[in-house]
Order: sequence, then C-alpha cells, then structure tokens
Amino acid sequence: MPSSLALQQYLPHVSRIAYGCMGLGGGWNDNPVSQQDIGQAREVIEVALEAGINLFDHADIYTFSKAEQVFGEVLKQSPALRDKMYIQSKCGIRFEDDHGAGRYDFSQSWVQHSVEQSLQRLNCEQLDVLLLHRPDPLMELDELATTLNSLHQAGKIAHLGVSNMNTAQIAYLQSALSLPIVANQIEMSLAKTDWLDDGIAVNTPASANTGFNTGLLEYCQMHNIQLQAWGCLAQGAFSDAGLESEQKNIRKASEYVRQLANDYGVSSEAIVLAFLLRHPAAIQPVIGTTNIQRINACAQATNVTLTREQWYNLYVLSRGEALP
Ligand SMILES: NC(=O)c1ccc[n+]([C@@H]2O[C@H](COP(=O)([O-])OP(=O)(O)OC[C@H]3O[C@@H](n4cnc5c(N)ncnc54)[C@H](OP(=O)(O)O)[C@@H]3O)[C@@H](O)[C@H]2O)c1
Repeated sequence: MPSSLALQQYLPHVSRIAYGCMGLGGGWNDNPVSQQDIGQAREVIEVALEAGINLFDHADIYTFSKAEQVFGEVLKQSPALRDKMYIQSKCGIRFEDDHGAGRYDFSQSWVQHSVEQSLQRLNCEQLDVLLLHRPDPLMELDELATTLNSLHQAGKIAHLGVSNMNTAQIAYLQSALSLPIVANQIEMSLAKTDWLDDGIAVNTPASANTGFNTGLLEYCQMHNIQLQAWGCLAQGAFSDAGLESEQKNIRKASEYVRQLANDYGVSSEAIVLAFLLRHPAAIQPVIGTTNIQRINACAQATNVTLTREQWYNLYVLSRGEALP
C-alpha cells in the first residue's frame, strides 16, 4: 500500500478518496436549484462523510455554479458539517458570454472574483484548497502570484493546487510563489492509462504516442504534490456495465474486475479504484457519482490492496496488449 498521501502534510486528516461535486446542483441547465437538489446534496455529503470521505471537490463552473450553491445551502442549514470536511474548489475556466468565446482566465480580477463568489455560494470563510482549473496561455506570472498570495494572506484560501498541468507549467508557477503547490488533478483511470503507458514505453516507438507529459508523475512525487484522479470511475466502463462491452479489452478487464471483487468481497467500483490506490504515488481518486449505493461501493476500495500480479493483470487487460 502507498505509504503516504502527500496532501496529509497540509490537511492532516484528509481521506484517501475525494468526493467530486460536479453532479450536484440539478444538472447543467438554467433551472434554479430546488429543495430536491439541496436534499440530494445533503444526502450525498452525509453518506460520504459516514463512509470516511471528507474532501469535497468543487469548481466555480460545476452545473453553472449550482453545485457550490446547493452545497452552501446544506452548510447554512447545518454549519457543524464544515468542521468535518475539507473543501476544494477551482477557478480559471470561463464560459462563452457576451464578451467572448469560452476561455481560461488567470487575471487578477477574474481569479479574485471567482474565489469570492465561490466562498459566498459555499457559505464558508475559506477554501481549504484552491485549484487553478486549466492552464491559461495568457497567464501573467507575477500578477497571478500576487493575486494568490493576497488571497492566502486574506485567509480566503489555505492551500493552492493546479489541475491539468504539466511539469513545466507547475515548476514555472511555483517559481514565483511563496505558497507551495500541493495538488495536481488530472484524468487517470483504467480507461485512461497514458500516465502509466508513458513510463513503460521509454525506448520503444510507442513513446512518441502516449500523449502524456513525461516525468509528471515523478515530478509530483518528488515535490510532494498530491496527484488527484478525475474520471477515476471511467464513467462505470469497467464496473458491471463493462461486462456487456463490445470492446474486447473492456469486457475482459471488466470480467477480471468482477472476479477480483468476488475474491475480495467488495464492489467492482472498489477494484477499479484500488487500481489507482495501489500505485506508489498515493493517487487520490475523485469520485463523481451521485448514487448513494455507489458512494458506499467506492469507499470499500480502501479495504483492498491488490497484489503486484493482480495490478499488472488489470493494467494489461485494460490496455488490450502485452507490455513491451
Ligand atoms: N479537474 C478537471 O478538469 C475535472 C474534470 C472532470 C471532473 N472533475 C472532478 O472529478 C469528479 C469525477 O469526474 P467524473 O464525474 O467525470 O468521473 P467518474 O467519477 O469517473 O464518473 C462519474 C460518472 O460515472 C457514472 N458511473 C460511475 N460508475 C458507474 C457504474 N458502475 N455504472 C453506471 N454509471 C456509473 C456516474 O453515474 P451515477 O451518478 O449514476 O453513479 C457518474 O455520472 C467530478 O465530480 C469533478 O469533481 C475534474
């Protein structure tokens, strides 16, 4: 089992699995939030906490800000819940509007505005972690560093992370910051294994095609940056739905997931996540399900430590081809 979770250095009691709030708020539509949406958020929060999951991952944009809104309504009704959880949110993505196309924005005015709006919606004083959602090519390094430092000094953000960034982008950003970058959230799952493929393809022709930023995994581990995995359930592709897949690799891997789930006496979702948990980088899966049974099914993953052989079997079956 991985020996440490990097984020625990900053958030001492953070859970191995995080809950992704992108599904809360009643969907990506203009409907106002309903009591039912708030009720769903409450149920999900309570079930996650009960299952030992205490990091809640937001973004200013999720369901057009309604995910943060319903979450904040629950915290307003039950303020004591705040002390039981860590809240992470993201900023930097802007939707198409009267001013222009969908874009990224790390300007002082946007980052500050976004964080203040998130805090207001969430009904809380401070984000435990702020992630910069996607790299903005027009980022002015000194302007961003000043903005983040002042948000930190004002107590609006406790810690800083990034998402979907490569090694050079993280190092460049860190060069201007006094705050350490504590997390990088990227897509990682049995369906998206480029983060592994890149490492094993070294010195083979396949190395040209993995699409992954070489060295990112090692960089994050060396600098104590928590790797968080979005899309970690692969939308259920390797859980029981995968048993019917027409893609042979998905079907075979799903059959093996099912077999391991039976052997360990856990859910298929637990095995899918155990694949990530077994990696020495101590990856933190961010689960996006709003299904109560599935949240509990996911939480079982922390009871499983796959053997080296089981881990490689899963990897090779999902790749659909032998290792080089
Ligand atoms: N940083 C980024 O750029 C970024 C991008 C995307 C997401 N995220 C974060 O990561 C979290 C997770 O991402 P995600 O939601 O894309 O990925 P996910 O956790 O892999 O997938 C969740 C989705 O898959 C469905 N699902 C899971 N297992 C299933 C199964 N066995 N059968 C049928 N459906 C199943 C869920 O439906 P049910 O609700 O019905 O279970 C849900 O719609 C998000 O909530 C968000 O916090 C971050």
